[in-house]
Amino acid sequence: MLALAREARQLMERRIALLLLLLLVWLSNGAILLVKTEEAAPAPAPMETREKQTLYSVIQSFVGGSWNGSALYPDPCGWTPIQGVSCDLFKGVWYVTSLSIGPVLDNSLQCAPDANFTPTLFELTHLKSLSFYNCFSLNTRPATTIPSSGWDTFAATLETLEFRSNPGLTGTMPAGLGMVKSLKSLVFVGNGLSGEIPFEIGHLVNLRRLVISTSGLTGSIPTSIGGLTSLLKLDLSHNLLQGNLPTELGNLKTLNLMDLRNNSFTGGLIPSTQSMVSLQDLLLSNNPLLGGTLTSIGWSNMVNLTTLDLSSTGLTGSIPDSLLDLKSLRCLALDNNRLSGNVPQNLATMPNLSALYINGNNFTGKLGFSQDFYEKLGRRFASWNNPSLCYSATEISEGHDGPVGVQKCTGDKEANFGLRNKVDRSGPDVNSSLLVSFGIPGNRVGGFWWLVLAQELMATFISVIMVL
Ligand SMILES: *[C@@H]1O[C@H](CO)[C@@H](O)[C@H](O)[C@H]1NC(C)=O
Ligand SMILES: *[C@@H]1O[C@H](CO)[C@@H](O)[C@H](O)[C@H]1NC(C)=O
Ligand SMILES: *[C@@H]1O[C@H](CO)[C@@H](O)[C@H](O)[C@H]1NC(C)=O
Ligand SMILES: *[C@@H]1O[C@H](CO)[C@@H](O)[C@H](O)[C@H]1NC(C)=O
Ligand SMILES: *[C@@H]1O[C@H](CO)[C@@H](O)[C@H](O)[C@H]1NC(C)=O
Ligand SMILES: *[C@@H]1O[C@H](CO)[C@@H](O)[C@H](O)[C@H]1NC(C)=O
Repeated sequence: MLALAREARQLMERRIALLLLLLLVWLSNGAILLVKTEEAAPAPAPMETREKQTLYSVIQSFVGGSWNGSALYPDPCGWTPIQGVSCDLFKGVWYVTSLSIGPVLDNSLQCAPDANFTPTLFELTHLKSLSFYNCFSLNTRPATTIPSSGWDTFAATLETLEFRSNPGLTGTMPAGLGMVKSLKSLVFVGNGLSGEIPFEIGHLVNLRRLVISTSGLTGSIPTSIGGLTSLLKLDLSHNLLQGNLPTELGNLKTLNLMDLRNNSFTGGLIPSTQSMVSLQDLLLSNNPLLGGTLTSIGWSNMVNLTTLDLSSTGLTGSIPDSLLDLKSLRCLALDNNRLSGNVPQNLATMPNLSALYINGNNFTGKLGFSQDFYEKLGRRFASWNNPSLCYSATEISEGHDGPVGVQKCTGDKEANFGLRNKVDRSGPDVNSSLLVSFGIPGNRVGGFWWLVLAQELMATFISVIMVL
């Protein structure tokens, strides 16, 4: 009886607590805070005046002179947090550890048209993360460049540095960035930079992620890249990079992703690629001057490679049997090259292959894949625009279609002559309907595109996590 009563009381107490909690939540849009601050102003978070003033003046240099930090945010690490600013305690005193400028959220710090870097920035000596998103636009006057000095003061602390979507950020990547030895993630995407990747980047031995994409950089990949032996992700896509791929890339034994798409590299695939044994995604497409053959790499060490994108890379020669050693391969894109010879029928025996693009080449002979294989891959198989290729009709049962844009083999007597006419008629039709149905411009095909897109989303997701 007593136990029962106690239980009932406990239940009641819990209900009251819950009600109070709900009430709190309901009131919390300001009301409670107001009452609290009026009744007993909380002690501000202990912070050096200098650190506070530095923070205000740094933010002001980006968001404009009319922003009055001390009036708006008297206690930036305590009761009046600033969106985009995080602090940490060091020996009982608060310091700014993360600064994120740009419209990530509604109430984020937004840059003014005269946004600029102040040298004071380098006085925030506890910063671990610094990022600029959509801050320097084409309206930014005068055009802004990344400071060339000062970076050494961040050498032991800064782990993440990001510049995303800042077309008004011009000039070169300063060599001084190479002094920030503590960096784990360096990201430049969609900025107005030019010039070459500085050799000093190779000094950043703790880097896990190096992204310099869509930024108009020229020159070649510095050989110092081989010093980045902890790198997991290397993305230099969508620039104007040229020259041969450096042999030193082979030192990157922990790299998962190498994305060098849409540049002007030359000299073919390099043999040291096979030393990058952790690679999962090797993306080189749209480097029309690359050239070379698939036989320059022994593929058997690359046990984790799942995506090999070599479309539009000027590849010649044939598909070697060694490619079949890529047991983890899911997506193989060899389209729009100058490959020739037969298409190995045993590609179909690769256990996880689910996308195969060989269209736009000069393959000859018979496509011997089974109807099951074509059905399994569906739209993730493309073989059109290979004028001398035909498919083996014996593999396809009555009433089922063969591969799109490829003519049925008609035996040795009927030569390419009649075939080619037919291919020319059927290819483009199918081609266009496919592309329209996916709403993708250019000659890309659905499956693979989505794969890469998903991958990039994942990368973004991971980057968000890393920042957090
Ligand atoms: C900012 O606000 C404080 C307090 O309201 C005031 O004393 C100061 O003059 C202001 N500064 C500027 C630059 O407006
Ligand atoms: C290739 O990169 C350039 C920038 O160098 C960009 O303007 C262009 O849109 C990119 N092309 C593709 C197909 O992504
Ligand atoms: C391949 O991936 C597996 C599973 O993620 C991992 O355990 C293994 O170490 C990787 N192999 C190499 C050479 O990176
Ligand atoms: C094929 O994919 C499955 C499922 O993702 C995976 O478990 C398996 O390890 C893969 N096989 C190879 C050889 O990579
Ligand atoms: C395609 O191959 C045939 C013979 O194999 C050759 O005559 C022709 O020049 C090649 N075409 C191209 C564009 O490489
Ligand atoms: C089909 O693709 C080829 C090469 O990718 C291109 O040249 C052709 O214009 C495309 N046809 C149509 C109708 O889009």
